[in-house]
Amino acid sequence: MKYNFDELIERRGTNAIKYDAMKELWGREDLIPMWVADMDFRTPSFILEAIRRRLDHEVLGYTHPADSYYEAIIHWVDKRYGMKVERDDLHYIPGIVPGIHHAVCALTEKGDKIAIQPPVYHPFRQIIEGTGRVPVCAPLVLRDGRFCMDFDALRRALEGCKLFILCNPHNPGGVVWTQEELEEVSRICEACGVTVISDEIHADMVFAPHRHRPFATVTPWVREHTVTFMAPSKVFNMPGIIVSQAIVYNPELRERFYGYIDRNDLAMGNVFSYLAAEAAYTEGEEWLTQMLDYAQANIRLVDERLKERMPKIKAVLPEASFLIFLDCRELGFATQAELESFFVNEARLGLNNGSMFGEEGTGFMRLNVAAPRSVVEQALQQLEEAYARL
Ligand SMILES: Cc1ncc(COP(=O)(O)O)c(C=O)c1O
Repeated sequence: MKYNFDELIERRGTNAIKYDAMKELWGREDLIPMWVADMDFRTPSFILEAIRRRLDHEVLGYTHPADSYYEAIIHWVDKRYGMKVERDDLHYIPGIVPGIHHAVCALTEKGDKIAIQPPVYHPFRQIIEGTGRVPVCAPLVLRDGRFCMDFDALRRALEGCKLFILCNPHNPGGVVWTQEELEEVSRICEACGVTVISDEIHADMVFAPHRHRPFATVTPWVREHTVTFMAPSKVFNMPGIIVSQAIVYNPELRERFYGYIDRNDLAMGNVFSYLAAEAAYTEGEEWLTQMLDYAQANIRLVDERLKERMPKIKAVLPEASFLIFLDCRELGFATQAELESFFVNEARLGLNNGSMFGEEGTGFMRLNVAAPRSVVEQALQQLEEAYARL
């Protein structure tokens, strides 16, 4: 079956954050929204059908996960990553961001230090600060167009930390960490005795020849000291369903984290979450392959057009996912606010402000290209016109 990613679907008026929050954020609605990381593609039919079938029953009571939900995850991660998982290793989590919050609460105390690698997905820092923990930064370094780890900085940062939140693959850098990089991270974590939260929400969207390696599979030590989060939500464009899962191998770590969640009753799924995940993981491979091809063609289009006509804006080419970090430093704006205003008020595009991912993101904007080609074309046209006026 060939899926249609060119279809234009009106999302305004559906309370979609990406569309209907623009007025509040930027004071105007006449922008092409290319910020919040969901897709403008139709959620795949096999997921919609599974939800419809359940709706037809017409009693939406409390629901627990079926064995087939766990089996679908177990099969998916084994097939894609050779990651062997058993039922007891798994736990349904109502969203990775809440999951990270609960893990931070369960595994650390107020005042504990937790390391992150900015520029990085902003809720990491928010959770650390919001729970009274202390963020310690080991910033990534942009080398030849790829964000790299500074291992000395990471070693220094991890000394005295209780936890490290790894973004694997990395958002907004789009980096798929290699086996060698992850092994080095593992050695440093072991030397510092630091437990790792590995956020792997972008794992299923890695572009060949890159390959996703679940951090917990890299060495025997990290297997015992890692909480892995994965999810079908972002990959299959159903983040509104709120569905993700944790994987923890070590029974003692499991007791601390899953015990905390269960004692506080923090992880009840909604009536659609388990069945939507199961449908995604059992029927989703073909859709995912086609979606990634389409997203990659959009990424190439953006990169080529920038190189040809807007050379002062450089795409940090993602090795995974549909988000492009744009290096706009050569545009020469004095402040990030001026850069953002250029995109909003001149190009009429709503992008994520790079500095929300940490001060290391200053001078960058994050562009979401999970949209029909015609929309990406239009956005490039608007950007080119604004660029020409500079
Ligand atoms: C790295 C990362 N983690 C987590 C999330 C969101 O996860 P959830 O919607 O399950 O809380 C995102 C969404 O963009 C993300 O990029």
